[in-house]
Amino acid sequence: ATAEPISDALLAWYDRHARELPWRIGPSARKAGERPDPYRVWLSEIMLQQTTVAAVKPFFERFVNRWPGVEALAAADESEIMAQWAGLGYYSRARNLHACARAVTGDHGGRFPGTAAELKTLSGIGDYTSAAIAAIAFDEAAPVVDGNIERVVTRLFRIATPLPKAKSEIRTRVAEMTPAGRPGDFAQAMMDLGATICTPRSPSCLLCPLTNACEAASAGDQTRYPVKAAK
Ligand code: ADE
Ligand code: SF4
Repeated sequence: ATAEPISDALLAWYDRHARELPWRIGPSARKAGERPDPYRVWLSEIMLQQTTVAAVKPFFERFVNRWPGVEALAAADESEIMAQWAGLGYYSRARNLHACARAVTGDHGGRFPGTAAELKTLSGIGDYTSAAIAAIAFDEAAPVVDGNIERVVTRLFRIATPLPKAKSEIRTRVAEMTPAGRPGDFAQAMMDLGATICTPRSPSCLLCPLTNACEAASAGDQTRYPVKAAK
């Protein structure tokens, strides 16, 4: 028998330790196989592109209270959206948000398209965001790679190639690890692990569900990764 796959160990950890966040569904809904609302997944992922989880939470709550679905957001005045966005920064995100809401409403009957490839054609949705929405809202096994996940993966496999050159190797590793069954939970589990356990300066390897599989933990050089190109 081979060792427990990384995804199994990580998903078992996520079932016990997932952060409860306003855009996620709760543990019992997850266990029942329910999916989160694509509108909430999309809105949260756009807000989280350049902003921390803690800063996003109150903005996310205000947006979904005011505009509970994509059609309501599409019908809003752009000036109101800009006013509600004030404080989040990177204001092109707010303009793209409105354009995307109008396209989903006008061209897709008010439903977000369900694949990463289609999502990527919408305003403000690139490689990362299309993969995240497809995995989290639609269970597509799209490889999701953000900064937290880059750190976890370069440590797991002791990837010594510097960023950004290492990105294609990281993506390949993530694609290999992503389980067909729960790709969205897997992606969010990797994010949570990077945010709470596999932190930049002092990872808590003794609490990490992946410690047996982790090459950097075995070698004792965790904080060497990710290697960054000299500036
Ligand atoms: N950062 C980006 N997307 C996230 C998510 N779905 N959960 C937690 N942190 C995130
Ligand atoms: Fe990160 Fe340590 Fe876990 Fe490896 S064992 S993934 S370095 S927290």
